[in-house]
Amino acid sequence: MTHAQQIHLVRRPQGMPVAADFAQVEASVPELAADEVEVEALLVSVDPYMRPRFNADQALAAVMPGGGIGRIARSRADALPEGTLVKHGGGFQSRFVAPARTVARLDADPALPLSAYMHVLGGTGLTAWGGLLHTGALQEGERVLVSTAGGAVGSVAAQIALIKGCTVAGLTGSDEKAAWLRDIAGIQAINYRTGKLSDAIAAALPEGIDVYFENVGGNQLDAALPLMRLNGRIPVCGMISGYNGDGPGVHNLFNMIYKRLRMEGFVSTDFQSAQAAFQSEMSGWIKAGKMHWQETIVEGFERIPEAMIALLNGENAGKMLVRVAV
Ligand SMILES: NC(=O)c1ccc[n+]([C@@H]2O[C@H](COP(=O)([O-])OP(=O)(O)OC[C@H]3O[C@@H](n4cnc5c(N)ncnc54)[C@H](OP(=O)(O)O)[C@@H]3O)[C@@H](O)[C@H]2O)c1
Repeated sequence: MTHAQQIHLVRRPQGMPVAADFAQVEASVPELAADEVEVEALLVSVDPYMRPRFNADQALAAVMPGGGIGRIARSRADALPEGTLVKHGGGFQSRFVAPARTVARLDADPALPLSAYMHVLGGTGLTAWGGLLHTGALQEGERVLVSTAGGAVGSVAAQIALIKGCTVAGLTGSDEKAAWLRDIAGIQAINYRTGKLSDAIAAALPEGIDVYFENVGGNQLDAALPLMRLNGRIPVCGMISGYNGDGPGVHNLFNMIYKRLRMEGFVSTDFQSAQAAFQSEMSGWIKAGKMHWQETIVEGFERIPEAMIALLNGENAGKMLVRVAV
C-alpha cells in the first residue's frame, strides 16, 4: 500500500504559531473507487487566511485543507488520465485520493512556470483583480494605496492599478521588497517600518487616496483613513496584522462619515463567475510584460510549518509556496 505524509495542526497557537503546533503524520493511501483519482502533490500553497482558522475552525489532528497543484498518479476517471496536471484543495498532504470532480484539470502554458498558476494566474490574481476592479470600483486615473504591496495579492493589486492609469503607492515591510516594487514593478514604495507612516503616504499621494486596497488593518488602516478622499472606497481583502490576535487597534474610523467612505469585505470566490474575463485580461498583461511577480518557494513537504511561520513573519517576497515534488 502507498503511504502519504500529512501536516496536522495538533495544538491551537498562542499568538505567532511555533513548530510544535504542527506535526507530520504518515497515512496510508486507499485503493481507488470508480471515478476517483490519486493526486501526487507538486506545489502547495501556504496562505495567511489559514491562521485565523487555527483558533477554532481547523480541526486538530486532521489534514489542513488548502490549495495546490498536483499530478494524477493513478486514475479511475477517464477524463483525468495518469500524468494530468490538476489544481486541487487537498491541502497539506503529499498524495491523496479524491473524487475526480473535486480536482480541476490544469492546461498550463509551457512558456510559464507552473507556479504562476498558484498566484498571478490563480486565486491570488483573481482576488487582486476582483477586489480592486469590482469591490473597489477602481476608476482610471485615481489615487490608490495598497498594503502588503510586496506580497502575493498586494503586488498584483498595485500593478493592476498602475496598468489602469492610477497613481499608486504600496506599503511593505522591508527595503528589499520596497526596492523590487520601485525598480521592477514601477510602484512608489513605502517601508512602513521606517518613519511616520501617515507622512510617508501623504508625500506619495499628496492629493489623498481614492481607493485603499486593505490587506493589513490596524495602524496601516488608521494611517490611511484620514487621507481618504470624498467618496473613497476601501475594499477589504485581509487584515493580517490581527491574525495572531495581538494586532494594534483602529481609532480613525470616524473619517468614514463626512468623507462618505465605503468599506466592503470580499473573498476571491465572489469573482468566480468572472474567471474567464480575469484569465483573459491577466494573460494579456503577462504577455505584454506589464505584470511582474515574485515567489518564495520553500523546498520540501516537511517544511510546510516553517513556511507558514515565515509567511506570518513577512519573510516571503511575493507568493509563498512549498515544493513537494517536481
Ligand atoms: N479575501 C480573500 O479572498 C483573500 C485571498 C487571499 C489573500 N487575502 C488576504 O490578503 C493579504 C495578503 O495575503 P497574501 O496571500 O498575498 O500574502 P502575502 O502578502 O504574500 O504575505 C503576507 C505578508 O503580510 C505581511 N505581514 C505579515 N504580518 C504582518 C503584520 N503583523 N502587519 C503588517 N503586515 C504583515 C508581510 O509582508 P510585509 O513584509 O510587507 O509586512 C507578509 O509577507 C492577507 O491579509 C490575506 O488574508 C485575502
